[in-house]
Amino acid sequence: KGWHTENLYLYQGHWFPSKYLFSIANVMGSQKTFQAMPSDIYLATLPKSGTTWIKALTFAIVNRTMYKNNSLSTHKLLSSNPHDCVPFIENEILRANPTSVVENCPRIFATHTPYTSLPQSIIDCGCRIVYVCRNPKDVLVSLFHFANKVRDESLGIITFEEAFKLFCEGVIPSGPYWDHVKGYYKATSEHPARILFLTYENMSVDIANIVKNLAKFLGYPFTKEEEAAGIVEEVVKICSFEKLREVNKHGNIRAGIPKHAFFREGRVGDWSNHLTDEMSHILDQITKEKFRDEMVNACIST
Ligand code: A3P
Repeated sequence: KGWHTENLYLYQGHWFPSKYLFSIANVMGSQKTFQAMPSDIYLATLPKSGTTWIKALTFAIVNRTMYKNNSLSTHKLLSSNPHDCVPFIENEILRANPTSVVENCPRIFATHTPYTSLPQSIIDCGCRIVYVCRNPKDVLVSLFHFANKVRDESLGIITFEEAFKLFCEGVIPSGPYWDHVKGYYKATSEHPARILFLTYENMSVDIANIVKNLAKFLGYPFTKEEEAAGIVEEVVKICSFEKLREVNKHGNIRAGIPKHAFFREGRVGDWSNHLTDEMSHILDQITKEKFRDEMVNACIST
C-alpha cells in the first residue's frame, strides 16, 4: 500500500506514512503541541491539489508591499520555492520551535491533515482556513507522476494500474480523497466566514477574480489604486505555473525531492491522457456514491 517511500497506515480514518514526511507521528505531534493563533492563515489541501499554487498566491497577496516598493525583481518567490515560504504544520514546524519558524504576522501555514484531525487549537481559535480541492482524476494522475519522481529506487516504479487501484481504495497520503474533501466542505458550510473552499478548476478559469476574493477573505483586500496599478495581475503572474516552473528548475526541496517535481503540466483534464474509459467510469461512480447529497460534486466535475 505504498506510493512514495513506504506503506501507508490508517490513523483516525485516514492514511499516513508511519515515518518521515506527513507521518502519523508528525500528525500526532502537531495535534499535541501546535498552537494556532487567531491571526494565522492555514492552507489545507490533499497532496497534488494545488498546494504549491495556493501557497505562492497567499504569500504573494499577504506580502505585496514588495510591489509597492517597486522591488518586484527581488520578490522572494523569484528566488525561493513556495514550500520554503509557507511551512507545513506536520513537518517543518515540528522540527523547530513553532513560534520562531514563522515570525511574520499573519503566520501562513499549510497542512494536508484532514479537518477532523487538525490540532484542536486551529478549530477553536477562529483563524482563517483556505481549502483547495481538485478533481479526483487529475489528483490521481498528478500523484502517480509525483510518486514515480520521488519514489525510493528500491521500490521500483508504481504502475498506473496500481496507482488507480490504491486511489479507488482510498489509500493515498491523507486520503481517502473523498473523506478529505467532504470534511473541509462540511466545515465550510458550518463556518463560511472562516473557511474558504476553492477548486483548482475554478482557479484555472479565472485566477484574477479568485485572487481578489482570496485577498478579501484573508483580510487583505486590494484597494482600487492597487487594482488600477495592475497589482492583481502581478500576483497572478509571479504565481503562474510558467513563472514558478522557471524559477524552480534546479535544486531540491529536501533530499530526494527535486523542486521541479511540483511543476508538471499544471492544467485541468490531463487525466484523459491516462485513464481508460472504464477507469474513468469507475471513478465517476465512486465519486457520485461518496458525494451523494453533497453540492461538492458539482464543484469538481470537469
Ligand atoms: P500536475 O501534476 O497535474 O501538473 P501540489 O502543489 O498540491 O503538490 O500539486 C501539484 C500540481 O499542481 C501539479 O499538477 C502541478 O503541475 C500543479 N501546479 C503547481 N504550480 C501550479 C501553478 N502555479 N498553477 C497551476 N498549477 C500548478
